[in-house]
Amino acid sequence: MIKFSDCVNGMRTSEIRDLMSMAMKPEIITFAGGMPNNDLFPVKEIDEIYNGLDDATKKVGFQYGPTPGYPPLIESLKEYLRSKNLPVDSNDLIITSGSLQAINIIAKLFVNPGDTVITENPCFIGGTSAFKSYQANIVGIPLDSDGIIMDELKRAMENEAKDAKILYLSPYFHNPAGIIYSKKRKEELLKFLAGKELILIEDDPYSELYFNESDKDLTVPMKTIQPEPVPICYTGSFSKILGPGMRLGWLLATPEIINKAQLTKQSMDACSSTFTQVLADQFLRKGKLRPYVERLREIYSRRMKIMNDSLVKNMPPEAKWVVPKGGFYFWITLPEKVDALEVLKESMSKGAIFVIGRTFDPEGIKNNCFRLAFSHTPEDEIDKGVKIISEALKARL
Ligand SMILES: Cc1ncc(COP(=O)(O)O)c(C=O)c1O
Repeated sequence: MIKFSDCVNGMRTSEIRDLMSMAMKPEIITFAGGMPNNDLFPVKEIDEIYNGLDDATKKVGFQYGPTPGYPPLIESLKEYLRSKNLPVDSNDLIITSGSLQAINIIAKLFVNPGDTVITENPCFIGGTSAFKSYQANIVGIPLDSDGIIMDELKRAMENEAKDAKILYLSPYFHNPAGIIYSKKRKEELLKFLAGKELILIEDDPYSELYFNESDKDLTVPMKTIQPEPVPICYTGSFSKILGPGMRLGWLLATPEIINKAQLTKQSMDACSSTFTQVLADQFLRKGKLRPYVERLREIYSRRMKIMNDSLVKNMPPEAKWVVPKGGFYFWITLPEKVDALEVLKESMSKGAIFVIGRTFDPEGIKNNCFRLAFSHTPEDEIDKGVKIISEALKARL
């Protein structure tokens, strides 16, 4: 018998992934993928950028690069992060292969088998999987529409999460909950965490995708509000604002942490793709990111409204949701007795799919909820898909 390591033996294939792979027929309307639609990628701009490069730079793109990142991208990214008031001068930056790698690196830096990591519940599954792969014990804390519930966090930190090493949060247009933390909640959190020996991961791949200018203030990272004395590892990504296939993210943290992160990354992949780093650098330098993201905001905002109108029109009153102010997701909560898997099976047979709630529960239990992503679905399919899901749900109530 092949003897896999303990950490790999702890990994489970998800029944939902298997189900989904059967559902990838072109006629199925999918709200499952948390990604942009292929039609939204800036193909023309990237063509122009590549064709405009001199041969020497193109050749650099084919080569290995320094582990912390392609130096011109480090500089242009610092400029971008500086414009958000992030402390790029007192902290160091490392480019990672997606922000998921940044989370993985932090997990590797701090988690020994059996250590406790606190996450939100629901939580981005890539985050929980990364922590679990280092055999962390995960304590999930519920959210309300303003963010993590402080009383629950405090109670856990006096009990089962007393010795927690990491608190992993995704405060801006949460995946899957769709919420954004209020200013008050962020302040309460930072006040509570001050002086505690806990690494806070502030995971921020979606904050650029706000739908109203008036909500931009809500996207101010905690790392800018109070970088000290709470040690914040701030992670970001090009995945939702340029393309996930670039596989480029970043980690901004203290020099001590980045130094160890570099050693860790070296053994993982030596460096992130120089090729895509060259392109991302030019995209930033030529001022193409801002107008592109403005276009995305309009498109996603329109899709969100179409989905919300359709939910209001079709869903039974028992289904509840918070209207997202940005990002990709609606999170639908149902009465306790409803099992989202049953709704999914019915809805899949009629031609529409989504991701069930327990995928995002660190314990894999809570299932009276599901995620609908509007980022990937063409506008003219949204209403039809929501109608199918609503009918499937009504049949289960
Ligand atoms: C909250 C959150 N963090 C991190 C990631 C990882 O993104 P990437 O590794 O593509 O940068 C995702 C992707 O869906 C996400 O939703």
